[in-house]
Amino acid sequence: MAGVREADGLICLLTDNIDVGLLDAAEHLRVVSTMAVGYDHIDVAAATERKIIVTNTPGVLTETTADLTFALLLSAARRLPESQRAIRDGHWKSWSPTFLLGHDVYGATLGIVGFGAIGQAVARRARGFDMRVLYNSRTARPELETGLGCTYVAFDELLEQSDFVTVHVPLTPETRHMFDTAAFQRMKTTAIFINTARGSVVVEADLQRALESKSIAAAAIDVAESEPMAEHDPLLQLPNLLVTPHIGSASVRTRARMADMAVDNLLAALDGRPPDHCVNPQVLP
Ligand code: NAP
Ligand code: GLV
Repeated sequence: MAGVREADGLICLLTDNIDVGLLDAAEHLRVVSTMAVGYDHIDVAAATERKIIVTNTPGVLTETTADLTFALLLSAARRLPESQRAIRDGHWKSWSPTFLLGHDVYGATLGIVGFGAIGQAVARRARGFDMRVLYNSRTARPELETGLGCTYVAFDELLEQSDFVTVHVPLTPETRHMFDTAAFQRMKTTAIFINTARGSVVVEADLQRALESKSIAAAAIDVAESEPMAEHDPLLQLPNLLVTPHIGSASVRTRARMADMAVDNLLAALDGRPPDHCVNPQVLP
């Protein structure tokens, strides 16, 4: 708060809560540039009222985040974290027909919720694994369906038919808590849930219950409602949950490109030029 008082521009991270209190403390602020594609940590309406430009970093992190999504999908399906733990705990005694059996990825049905940049990039990866791809999104994209080999279905149908459900919506009032007990109960008992979007699209207590009761088989999440997760968070005790610490875009090249983009957006706005990636273009001169 003290740091922004004299600032004309602000580069922030997704861990910074850019709320009314901060915007009011920053009397000179003309631009908020976040080094993230998701901007749910910024009160965009309040910034817009104050004619403050808000920018983000879409596109450059799409493929890297889709890679992590697929890494989580494969790891959860084939139980890689449990395998690693079993070896380290001395449980690898011999080859056994039933040791650490997982689920096939090839030929399985993948349900993608939120079919924007990252959702589509995940669909491209799924084709290489001969998966059947279903999607649900705010806007159907029939023009992409033949090329990506995917089919639009209703949300409930996607939950019921998918072996893997992966979520790629932004966090908004409409998507907050869209995965609750009702959603998990619609999913197959063999289903695996993957979340690289935002923790709050899930009711975490409901996810915990679904995993404990085996109403779904497993989950893999890169994001949590409260980050960092507490060391003793009960979710971290579950053997059928894989957690990574919000590393979706964390490759050397992608983080450098995000940083460059955040700086370019900021400098453009301060120079009075339209930034390449503005989320509230109505405030541009
Ligand atoms: P995007 O291109 O804007 O795609 C978001 C998609 O979600 C769009 O297709 C949008 O539909 C759809 N959507 C919006 N509201 C919806 C709703 N209520 N119900 C169903 N679908 C809805 O964004 P992106 O680049 O793919 O990124 C998606 C999110 O991933 C980001 O907002 C961020 O929170 C998260 N993310 C996480 C990481 C990580 O490190 N784990 C990295 C990057 C991104 P329309 O086509 O109608 O707009
Ligand atoms: C990461 O979570 C992002 O939104 O860029």
